[in-house]
Amino acid sequence: MSKKIGIVGSGIVGQTLANGFVKHGYDVMIATNTASKREELKSKTNGKAKIGSFEEAANFGEVVVLATKGSAAEAALKAAGMANLAGKTVIDTTNPIADAPPLNGVLQYFTSQNESLMERLQTLAPEARFVKSFSCIGNAFMVNPDFNGVKPTMFICGNHEGAKSDVKTILDQFGFDVADMGAVEAARAIEPLCILWCIPGFLSNNWTHAFRLLKR
Ligand SMILES: NC(=O)c1ccc[n+]([C@@H]2O[C@H](COP(=O)([O-])OP(=O)(O)OC[C@H]3O[C@@H](n4cnc5c(N)ncnc54)[C@H](OP(=O)(O)O)[C@@H]3O)[C@@H](O)[C@H]2O)c1
Repeated sequence: MSKKIGIVGSGIVGQTLANGFVKHGYDVMIATNTASKREELKSKTNGKAKIGSFEEAANFGEVVVLATKGSAAEAALKAAGMANLAGKTVIDTTNPIADAPPLNGVLQYFTSQNESLMERLQTLAPEARFVKSFSCIGNAFMVNPDFNGVKPTMFICGNHEGAKSDVKTILDQFGFDVADMGAVEAARAIEPLCILWCIPGFLSNNWTHAFRLLKR
């Protein structure tokens, strides 16, 4: 399993996953393209992660995590550099949230139901091995969440089996049950789970839940 993780994105998701990967013994570089955020990132990761640009983190990582604002994801990939992503597992945490406000607690997306952001990203960077993951749970529960011994389900999808195997190993370490929903098109179903997850938050300020797929 690759041990060098490059995180493209400096928000709370990038920071949370950076600290999670450090905790699990990975060598981590987290990236911002805004110079004034570098010092803050250093302290948010307790000096344990390297700090770089999007391009430097994509080059550093054997596995790359994309954790930018959804509407900036395509620009972020271009800034990261296609050659730095080719042949690598790219964990896509992003959701295509539009700038327009939620309607009765329902987030608005800039994609339609018959497309997904990850399909756009896979088309833009065809040699990258995208795996949707961490998109359907709040950042507070991304690393070894405690739900009284019950593991939440992380829904994943992607075209490359080896990349999904990398992500399953990581998700096992991070305390998740994994549900592999198939190829990239399944992101059309996984990305909207974020809309569902956020509704109790917007309507009743309840942000402390997670999805679990029951099977028999
Ligand atoms: N927050 C959550 O709990 C949560 C849960 C699941 C999934 N997600 C998804 O995870 C992703 C990251 O979320 P977040 O809350 O951590 O942070 P965010 O505020 O959505 O994104 C911050 C990152 O986006 C980059 N960015 C913003 N505008 C940009 C632009 N115009 N061009 C290039 N880069 C730009 C920033 O770059 P700089 O570093 O240069 O400022 C920064 O790295 C989102 O897609 C979100 O939907 C979030």
